Amino acid sequence: MPSRPRKMIPKKTVKKRPPALRAAITAVHGHLPQYVLNNHELAKLVDTTDAWIVERTGIRERRILKGEGLGTSHMGAEAVRGLLEKTKTAPGDIDLVICATTTPDFVFPSTANLICDMVGIRNIGSFDVQAACSGFIYAVTIASQFIETGKYNKIVVVGADKMSSIIDYTDRATCVLFGDAAGAVMLEPSTNRRGIIDSIISSDGAGMPFLHQKAGGSRMPPTAETVARRLHYVHQEGAQVYKFAVAKMAEVAGTLMERNKLSGEDIAWLVPHQANKRIIEATAGRMGLPMEQVMMTIHKFGNTTAATIPLCLWDYESKLKAGDKLILAAFGGGFTWAGMYVTWAYDGARAASAPPA
Ligand code: UT7
Repeated sequence: MPSRPRKMIPKKTVKKRPPALRAAITAVHGHLPQYVLNNHELAKLVDTTDAWIVERTGIRERRILKGEGLGTSHMGAEAVRGLLEKTKTAPGDIDLVICATTTPDFVFPSTANLICDMVGIRNIGSFDVQAACSGFIYAVTIASQFIETGKYNKIVVVGADKMSSIIDYTDRATCVLFGDAAGAVMLEPSTNRRGIIDSIISSDGAGMPFLHQKAGGSRMPPTAETVARRLHYVHQEGAQVYKFAVAKMAEVAGTLMERNKLSGEDIAWLVPHQANKRIIEATAGRMGLPMEQVMMTIHKFGNTTAATIPLCLWDYESKLKAGDKLILAAFGGGFTWAGMYVTWAYDGARAASAPPA
């Protein structure tokens, strides 16, 4: 049978694939509790000194959320309220809220649910992401998928932790490190193809023994005994975590640079998780970046877990220019680690609202 002539499709009707949508961070805000806990005050609680803390960690002070009945959601809601005001966005315009936290107000419901209620955002999806100090990059990576597929137009991602609620202020190895805060970003489809270009999320559960909270979950529910044995606090084997943190933060940054053909000269800013000044310096060193191009807030806020990266973006917003290439990198309990390559979408100087001095 003679084959039927193939129908020719005129060239101009062949549809070109529309350019891929990118998710861009279009605004950033934060919240810092008022109370400042400095190293000198800590030295009255445990056997430590300002000199040791500054030399080994870079931390001089951190914020602590005081006030009965105030949890992580309080700080998250303050950050989101500020974000909505700053961007003149009505709560009803938000399509999704994701909160990265390790210190949720409750086991359930999620802190994202509570934040939505507190700021008047209703009838949309909201949920928490638990990836410890890598949580913010995990949450932005998840959120960006909803933007890239065209499903949602405005997503709020919050990184918030009230670390003081799980810190043992008799343990000098951990109590000097952590602080409380929240940061929030708005994600929207990019109209200029700037935004989140690439990201990596990763984990290794074998790291659990080195950084975790022993009791309070389903494996060891709270009892009078678990409280008496002080098992509801952060347990960290610092030196082990330090080793992995340096290796993995440098690894994600290196992989993102290599597969996106970036050299140190292309990068405007490294935005590292703020756990230890020495870890940050080592990561920057391996990337070939001078410290002037590294965002650093650890001296004034300490380690605020999921909030460190959005807090950095908030603190440095006025310095960020449209087109700046940023590498974000984090490492935390789990172990978890994550990285993100972002082309900044707007001139921060016009939008900036600096954190309180
Ligand atoms: O964000 C989540 C991921 N977390 C991290 O990335 C944290 C990674 N780890 C670190 O940043 C560091 O390991 C720490 C800052 C936690 C500790 O610094 P280090 O240089 O690794 O100290 P170390 O734990 O090896 O302890 C050295 C010494 C010990 O004394 P001995 O055994 O040598 O006599 C500690 O008892 O320092 C002592 N020490 C302190 N001394 C004064 C530990 N904490 C303190 C303190 N003040 N606060």
